[in-house]
Amino acid sequence: MDHFSKSKVSSVLLLALASVANAENCCAKLKTLDSSKTFYPNTYTYGAANGAGGLLPILGNVLQNDFPYWANQGIAAPGCVFTAKSTEDVSNAVKILHQYQCEYAIRSGGHNPIPEWSNTYGGVLLSTSGIDDVAYNPTENTVTFGAGCNWKDVYNELDPLGVGTMGGRDNTVGTGGFLLGGGISYYSNSKGWAADHITAYEVVYANGTIGTITPSNYPDLFIAMKGAGSSFAIVTHFTQETFEQKTYNAGFVFYPPGSIPKVLNALYNYSVDGAIAHPESHIIPAFSSVGPDLVVTEITLGAFCFFYPTKLKNFQETEVFKPFTKEIPFLASTKKNRKGINSISGEIAGYSGPGKRQSFTDMAIVLDSAETLKVLWDAYQDVAEPYRLCIQGYTASFIFYPLTSTFVSQGTAGGKKNSMGLENTPAGQDGKTIMIISINLTWLLKSQDALAAECVGKVFAKLRQIAEQRGIYHPFLYMNYANGTQDVLGGYGAASGDRLRQVKLEVDPTNDFGTLVKGRYKIPDA
Ligand SMILES: Cc1cc2nc3c(=O)[nH]c(=O)nc-3n(C[C@H](O)[C@H](O)[C@H](O)COP(=O)(O)OP(=O)(O)OC[C@H]3O[C@@H](n4cnc5c(N)ncnc54)[C@H](O)[C@@H]3O)c2cc1C
Ligand SMILES: *[C@@H]1O[C@H](CO)[C@@H](O)[C@H](O)[C@H]1NC(C)=O
Ligand SMILES: *[C@@H]1O[C@H](CO)[C@@H](O)[C@H](O)[C@H]1NC(C)=O
Ligand SMILES: *[C@@H]1O[C@H](CO)[C@@H](O)[C@H](O)[C@H]1NC(C)=O
Ligand SMILES: *[C@@H]1O[C@H](CO)[C@@H](O)[C@H](O)[C@H]1NC(C)=O
Repeated sequence: MDHFSKSKVSSVLLLALASVANAENCCAKLKTLDSSKTFYPNTYTYGAANGAGGLLPILGNVLQNDFPYWANQGIAAPGCVFTAKSTEDVSNAVKILHQYQCEYAIRSGGHNPIPEWSNTYGGVLLSTSGIDDVAYNPTENTVTFGAGCNWKDVYNELDPLGVGTMGGRDNTVGTGGFLLGGGISYYSNSKGWAADHITAYEVVYANGTIGTITPSNYPDLFIAMKGAGSSFAIVTHFTQETFEQKTYNAGFVFYPPGSIPKVLNALYNYSVDGAIAHPESHIIPAFSSVGPDLVVTEITLGAFCFFYPTKLKNFQETEVFKPFTKEIPFLASTKKNRKGINSISGEIAGYSGPGKRQSFTDMAIVLDSAETLKVLWDAYQDVAEPYRLCIQGYTASFIFYPLTSTFVSQGTAGGKKNSMGLENTPAGQDGKTIMIISINLTWLLKSQDALAAECVGKVFAKLRQIAEQRGIYHPFLYMNYANGTQDVLGGYGAASGDRLRQVKLEVDPTNDFGTLVKGRYKIPDA
């Protein structure tokens, strides 16, 4: 180790020690503020909030909802946990954290798998879990909910009323991280990002002041908030649009390996044509493979979720999905008419439960041909194969998400804007479809984290090389499927970068969100 890196290491160590010392101080102040909401290690509530060491950890594991972090990497060791129950609680806590410059992490649903993104080693964990009120406003056609809600809480309120809103396709996902990163919902082909439908944010700024961000009172910040993650403020309540939600038809169709080439052809057609002709439809096209320790024979399945917003007659299929379900052999299907979005979003939750090590990584291409999808799929399988054989509990989903021109234009219809900059891409300008390619990898052992990262790194290096050779690589990265090291905000383009920098200077002049608060992508050149 040369001198430079040695001194770098020791200053990092010093910083870490300093932040631990600070956290002790802040934890003590928080306890004085409200001892009923401040929890130290080795207490039941601390364990329940952090995901480890509760008094009933085994019982807690029985219920998915009792996992505060979906991925085991989310579990950390905060100096203390502060569980806010109201916006005022967050404000009072943040005033302390700001004044004493303590490191902290903010948590909503705890579904982000990146280590120390919504938890911290040594700092304060500021949990929004207790802010879980949901209020539907039928006059305004909006719903307001606390950032501690997961989507199930919101759907529980709206489903019985036949009302929908743009939320998670898996109902265990938190509203906070999902909406700050954009949010792809079942309605996104016709309405864009979930965040495009937020009408107001109730927030606490870095200095602890409470504020409301709307298009009229803070237009630039309102736009910046949509897709930039937790860069500017802590959200305590979101208000977003609602719409009528009828009985719909949805479910998973599972394809055997032999059907995959045909499925990829149909997927190409759907992505450049069907999804645009029928933007009310939605699919989640995933391909899953598992390691030999989990199954005896090699299993690679296509697992596609199909959503159509109206009911279908028995044994009938809507035109746009016929190529997938009437012309290609499949193994099983759970497609049926359903009432209430908790039905399909609860089924999905059952397929990817918590309690394991997880990572998401993504990339994008400008979709040019069915053959490209096939080439990328083959390359992925080749590169990942040796890792499938040696990573314990290996389960990988290779998922395509078509971002169509209607997705982009409808989201921003009526002069709306967001941070993602897609209006300046071929999906916004030339009617092209941008295909997000994401991999989520699940494995069992912490000791194989590095191997898992190596697998993901090699796969994406290969996919990127293919995309660049074909001239279809696109720098857009969907934040909520990125892995923490990727240049997400850079991929939003220069115009977005300018706005993000400008707004940041205004609302966070002391750069708390750059130095104290865990878990965000860097604003380019900020
Ligand atoms: C099983 C599963 C299914 C998914 N399905 C979808 C899907 O259908 N569509 C989709 O678009 N994405 C989906 N995702 C991705 C999901 O959107 C992200 O993982 C998202 O970050 C989760 O939000 P969270 O609130 O649960 O996470 P958290 O880990 O609690 O938070 C994520 C980040 O946001 C910050 N944050 C959270 N709340 C606040 C707040 N109130 N104020 C400021 N910062 C905050 C945290 O500090 C952290 O940096 C899915 C993820 C999983 C694991
Ligand atoms: C895709 O669309 C083309 C042209 O419309 C059609 O000829 C072809 O059969 C379609 N393929 C699939 C798999 O649906
Ligand atoms: C991967 O993530 C998607 C949500 O984006 C989820 O539906 C799927 O089940 C996940 N797969 C695994 C193996 O975790
Ligand atoms: C994150 O993504 C990058 C780029 O694809 C990759 O090189 C790296 O290995 C990934 N990291 C993890 C932890 O998976
Ligand atoms: C705190 O920051 C907000 C957002 O920039 C600002 O409006 C407010 O005036 C600041 N409050 C104090 C007390 O400095």
